[in-house]
Amino acid sequence: MSDPLAVISLHQDTPELAHTYEQLGVIQFNHGKLLLEPLALKPGERVLDVGAGTGRLAEFAARLVGPTGHVVGVDPLDSRIAIARLRQSTNLVFDTGRAEDLSRFGEGEFDVVYFNSVLHWIADKRTVLQEARRVLRPSGRIGLTIQDPTAPHESRILLRRAITEAGLDAERLSAHGVYAATDAELRALFDHTGFVGYQSELRTLVETHGNVDELLGWSESSAFGNFLDGFSYAEGKRIRAAFTGLVEAHRTPEGLRLARYLRYAFARKPE
Ligand SMILES: C[S@@+](CC[C@H](N)C(=O)[O-])C[C@H]1O[C@@H](n2cnc3c(N)ncnc32)[C@H](O)[C@@H]1O
Repeated sequence: MSDPLAVISLHQDTPELAHTYEQLGVIQFNHGKLLLEPLALKPGERVLDVGAGTGRLAEFAARLVGPTGHVVGVDPLDSRIAIARLRQSTNLVFDTGRAEDLSRFGEGEFDVVYFNSVLHWIADKRTVLQEARRVLRPSGRIGLTIQDPTAPHESRILLRRAITEAGLDAERLSAHGVYAATDAELRALFDHTGFVGYQSELRTLVETHGNVDELLGWSESSAFGNFLDGFSYAEGKRIRAAFTGLVEAHRTPEGLRLARYLRYAFARKPE
């Protein structure tokens, strides 16, 4: 599941990328609402959003659990948490922190823990799920979305092609890939970490982007500095030019239409 070549850095984010993510991250928000639906948050529940980013989905979750519930959002990136903290709600708090270490939270402190497009950025998924299990109450629910290596996003396929068209080796992109997981790998992971009732579904999500800059801005800001970072500035310019040509072939009257694929997975802690 973990690609030993992949090196995801948490030190390449910038306030500008965080700001762009807040502007364009509504796509991730829409994917996240599909994650929350089956988790069926109820008024009064305590929810942990791990890898909350700029907090848009956590704010939505806080409205679902209402004033008697509460939502905590954690994310390792200061710039993202700074934006998240601008969201004003008495039942919503944000803090910096990593999924691998939830030790600030007590055992059984949450009814629901979720990760929206976060797990594919993390190599040590077992520790993350062990931590999530610890902070969940018995019967507590867990949900996540994650990229599946058998179904790469269309934009990723086009990016690889653009790298080749730019006269560069597309394998250099794989060295900066994400830690995606298949259904079988996730099932094994949930089993090993003591969850029950595992269910998952690979969903196709067709997105429309106004122009290539928007698509690139979203991809770059979602990757918090891990997008094309293995390429020089001049190489990046060539890749972007080739990518623009390839993506334009996907233009429809509504905009640039590209499919993304995310696996939605759910389980619960035993009673
Ligand atoms: C694509 S963004 C998704 C943000 C948010 N969940 C949303 O739905 O908008 C991925 C997030 O994962 C976070 N992340 C990366 N590594 C992490 C880790 N080890 N622990 C917790 N979050 C992490 C990043 O900081 C980033 O905010």
